[in-house]
Amino acid sequence: MKKLKIGVIGCGTIGRAIAAACQKELSGCVDLVALCDIDKEKASGLAKTLKRKVPIFEMSGLIKKSGLVVEAASGAVSAKVLSACIAGRRDCLVMSVGGLIGKEDLLVRAAAAGVKVYIPSGAISGIDGLKSAMAGMVTSVTLTTRKPPKGLAGAPYLKENRIDISKINCETVVFEGSAEEAVKGFPQNVNVSAVLSLAGIGAKKTRVRIVTSPDYMKNVHEIEVTGASGRITTRTENAPSATNPKTSALAIFSAIATLRQAASSVRIGT
Ligand SMILES: NC(=O)c1ccc[n+]([C@@H]2O[C@H](COP(=O)([O-])OP(=O)(O)OC[C@H]3O[C@@H](n4cnc5c(N)ncnc54)[C@H](O)[C@@H]3O)[C@@H](O)[C@H]2O)c1
Repeated sequence: MKKLKIGVIGCGTIGRAIAAACQKELSGCVDLVALCDIDKEKASGLAKTLKRKVPIFEMSGLIKKSGLVVEAASGAVSAKVLSACIAGRRDCLVMSVGGLIGKEDLLVRAAAAGVKVYIPSGAISGIDGLKSAMAGMVTSVTLTTRKPPKGLAGAPYLKENRIDISKINCETVVFEGSAEEAVKGFPQNVNVSAVLSLAGIGAKKTRVRIVTSPDYMKNVHEIEVTGASGRITTRTENAPSATNPKTSALAIFSAIATLRQAASSVRIGT
């Protein structure tokens, strides 16, 4: 099988881990051919840590050079990256999934252009079951996210509703609403609810509850799916990544696993 030519946009926590994996555990099936970061020092800093030399490009140059573009930059740019990949007929793995909410037409355009879009499960488990359930009828999808207060500090929803998170002294539900509303009110929680929405019944119908407590030590995501297939519940307790506490280690591993799957002829799980 021909090796996939990977270009990585965004050389932060996730980009660095993916680039390293491309030259280590994925080296049998992929070639890392290009790096890009809005902060040139981040890109050159990453290039220096890699075993084999990898050139640095602007976004358009990277897309031309790559067969599969990995977006690990920001929700502000992920739709633009995917759009450019569609125009250039390049496959794309999107990590900043929140940037695709409201722009779901891009997925339709990608399919029409024969461009594959990979959206890893990220920091949650249960996407496999949800996808299977969607082949029948799904009546509800609910995400309950539990985070320590500091993991929610600064969220626009808290400011707008004058919720002083530092004064919360017991387990408290701070938000209940649609994934569409959660994406706006809690941008740092957007990727998990966005992945769930795209795999399931959409951002308007997917329900989100955000709960906090000073006793919480980890970010926990619980999913409940109900429908014709029965009831699915999952609970994922996330360890933070070593360099960015906002990014869970599982999100990084899911990107690496998705690249491995993209390069493989065997698919296990839905
Ligand atoms: N899907 C998931 O489950 C999941 C989980 C965690 C993080 N994420 C998302 O993945 C992305 C990367 O996460 P991270 O932890 O590596 O973040 P990070 O802040 O460590 O790294 C992001 C990098 O992207 C660069 N960047 C920002 N805008 C850019 C642009 N326009 N062009 C090129 N480079 C740009 C930054 O300079 C930085 O080096 C974020 O958007 C984050 O929200 C997704």
